[in-house]
Amino acid sequence: MLTVQTVNELKSAVKSAREAGKSVGLVPTMGALHEGHKSLVDRCRKENDVVVVSVFVNPTQFNNKEDLRTYPRTEEADKALLAASGCDIVFMPTVEEVYPEPDTRVFSLGKVAEVMEGAMRPGHFNGVAQIVSKLFMMVEPDRAYFGEKDFQQIAVIREMVKQEGFNLEIVPCPIVREADGLAKSSRNVRLDAHHRSIAPNIARILRESVDFAKSHSVEETCAMVTDGINAYPEMEVEYYQIVDGITLMPVADWSDSNYVVGCVTVYCGDVRLIDNIAYKK
Ligand code: PAF
Repeated sequence: MLTVQTVNELKSAVKSAREAGKSVGLVPTMGALHEGHKSLVDRCRKENDVVVVSVFVNPTQFNNKEDLRTYPRTEEADKALLAASGCDIVFMPTVEEVYPEPDTRVFSLGKVAEVMEGAMRPGHFNGVAQIVSKLFMMVEPDRAYFGEKDFQQIAVIREMVKQEGFNLEIVPCPIVREADGLAKSSRNVRLDAHHRSIAPNIARILRESVDFAKSHSVEETCAMVTDGINAYPEMEVEYYQIVDGITLMPVADWSDSNYVVGCVTVYCGDVRLIDNIAYKK
């Protein structure tokens, strides 16, 4: 596995692969890698000749300085996981390397970026679009892999790809869960033992809501999930929205769409967790 820190090194490593007629897959990450990221790398390994993984905690997507400061950083463990997963090139740049000048680009990402996370974390998706578009320009991958835990992020990246005219395939990959159902996340390490034992109830309630939805309205199902999670004094739902899986616009009735997904954000203590579940796909 080749570890590179500069854009020039990255481009020349990818160029050699391209000249040899190889396909290139990219897995963008912010490090603190876990089984969820490994599943993206595994899929990328299966579908491409060359696997590139970026490990970069992107400051422009954090709208909260404390969240950026405390974001877990585990570079050596990340490299070990990537080497064991068959990654070919890992890109671990500094902030100055990626942003030699401040990135002032403002993307018009439309409605998909305005709802849910877009409303709660102003500027977040613009920062995601900045870094992901930069990575796409540097690597020019054939395919890029993203986890469905960040369901809205995938819709936003698809919109950015359309607007910027990138020619690549966005590959969404299923959520990987702990044995007790909690969606794997780099932020899970911030949960203390007590909150860690409570957090799996988010996934349990989401799962149970799929059965509940068969005989209840969208509104009743929303209330069932929100009230069920809020019944735990340790947890507070920031939002639960049942939306069309493509447009991310709220659905009022199950018959409004063939692809319906519920997206939740929960504060478990002071740790913000997100998860989602498909009702119709
Ligand atoms: O999902 C993430 O980890 C980040 O938002 C991404 C896509 C790597 C961009 O920094």
